[in-house]
Amino acid sequence: MSVKGTLLLGLIALVGVLPASSKEQPAAALSGVVTSDAEGHMEGVLVTARPEGANITVTVISDEQGRYAFPPGKLQPGKYSLSIRAVGYELAGQAAAEIKPDKATRADIKLVKAKDLASQLTGAEWMMSIPGNEKQKRALFHCDQCHSLDKVAKSTYDAESWMVALLRMQNQWQSSSTFNHPMPPPFPPKEVPSDPELAKYLASINLSGDRTTWPYELKTFPRPRGRDTKVVITAYEVPRKGSSPHDLAIDPDQMVWYDDFQTLDIGRLDPRTGQFKEWKVPTLKPGLTANNLTIELDKQGNPWLPRGYQGCSVTKFDVKTEKFQTWSAPAEYNDDHASCTQGNVGPNGMVWFYSNSTGKMFELDPTTGDVKVFNTFPPGSGQYKGPNRVFYFGVDENFVTSEKTHKIYGSAIAANGDPIYCDIEGSTIAVLDHTTGNVNMYPTPTPAAAPRRGSIDSDGNFWFGEWMASQLGMFDPQSKEIKEWRPPTPWSGIYRAARDKNGDVWSGGMSTDYVYRLNPKTGEWLEYMLPTLGGEIRDIKIDDSGASPKIWVPLVHAGILVKVEPLE
Ligand code: HEC
Repeated sequence: MSVKGTLLLGLIALVGVLPASSKEQPAAALSGVVTSDAEGHMEGVLVTARPEGANITVTVISDEQGRYAFPPGKLQPGKYSLSIRAVGYELAGQAAAEIKPDKATRADIKLVKAKDLASQLTGAEWMMSIPGNEKQKRALFHCDQCHSLDKVAKSTYDAESWMVALLRMQNQWQSSSTFNHPMPPPFPPKEVPSDPELAKYLASINLSGDRTTWPYELKTFPRPRGRDTKVVITAYEVPRKGSSPHDLAIDPDQMVWYDDFQTLDIGRLDPRTGQFKEWKVPTLKPGLTANNLTIELDKQGNPWLPRGYQGCSVTKFDVKTEKFQTWSAPAEYNDDHASCTQGNVGPNGMVWFYSNSTGKMFELDPTTGDVKVFNTFPPGSGQYKGPNRVFYFGVDENFVTSEKTHKIYGSAIAANGDPIYCDIEGSTIAVLDHTTGNVNMYPTPTPAAAPRRGSIDSDGNFWFGEWMASQLGMFDPQSKEIKEWRPPTPWSGIYRAARDKNGDVWSGGMSTDYVYRLNPKTGEWLEYMLPTLGGEIRDIKIDDSGASPKIWVPLVHAGILVKVEPLE
């Protein structure tokens, strides 16, 4: 799904690869200028270098003068193919460069207008382009989770055929599905009927009937500018074909661990060497969905995984012995319908895992094997009882706000041992007092914001993504106040957030391909665009071990782990 696939088709070589003058400073291994006839020197063009035969790419962004430069040390001598991302443009010809030891290489890049703009739009740009009232747009935004909206916009269904297709989207695939790898839920959900109004709306915005183009203008975001271009992005493609990394975690040796949304593989990347190693988490319930969502590390760097449909259980991988060990909730909470996708390793070493089918959460003491049971929400409050709906969050079947149901999603454990968690259905942030079992809920200022996942900073604040509201949220457990911030681009679909040691807060847009950096003191946002279109950023983790932070995100739909290194 990356843009580069569309760019390199049978074109003439227009890229000059010239040895730069040895006096030129600083000695970037590879640099050049990006131009087009339409704009001259072009700022904000992502230039990606891929070493021949390798699964690791490095991307930089051109500056105000159209100049791009890979900082020294980022590229080793060898042959590279070059690709670009700049909405509305493509390479004029195949682009390649050879880097020789001790010699700077210059490769100027010429762009021409893209022949197929529609295939370069992000989900957010489709959301911005497609007309509709709030209810219609909410429905459409929900479609962008399993596949890009170009599937919807380029479809040719009329309203009648949409009635059939919608049945499939709403009932047949579970949320871990991707376009190329649909995953049916293990049990048929309570069927959500197709909404004739939604079907009519979808037929009015696609290529149905005799339409050859869209009855609206395709709007695009401006290219990165100024500080948004000061970044180096390294993408590590998971070698396993069709991989779907969902969460990642960084261990004390800066190794990057990840799990998989569609399989039982877990893996470890050594970013210094680019080496990957993978293991298979054992099956607990054969025949039921076998995947993982959450991965967290304990203080020794051992990964822990809540087991989804494989059981209301949590599995530890011991990195020293390479053995797996599993603990489960009491049998009455662990029937075949139980699904535990979320959980945490607390600062005190206690391990939490949660089930929406029973509305319970469990605290495991790994030293004794004892499991305590808690309610996720106060007794009597409407509990989500999955899996009766495949993908609607924060709204009912008619896309009306549904504050009455509560569903636990992402969570983190405070220093005092209390879980703080996102209630994606009821749009609250909830806190469990683990000594009394009491739960308090704090509504997000924006209703139906669908808070999704979060993390706790060193001051105890809980930072989270408001997916449906496309905002960033912060819950202060002292004042019980929730603050919200909105990035400059609309329809970001922020999933998760984390604060670095300098106080900046990082998040990723599921629908924009941007990694966002917010300075909460000034309210200033920076947006770092990733080279992969529609990779789907979810989790976000910070490696704060060095002088400046390195930000890691997995691309669930692209099988890539991405490292973002801001240059300022
Ligand atoms: C839970 C995941 C999921 C969601 C949410 C989802 N889809 Fe899909 N969609 C799929 C999968 C998987 C495929 C490929 C298999 C198939 O065609 O059913 C697909 C394929 C499609 C296709 C291309 C195939 C065809 O029939 O032309 C269209 C169009 C489509 N979806 C429209 C939608 C719309 C509209 C929505 C929102 C109302 C939506 N999808 C929401 C999973 C999803």
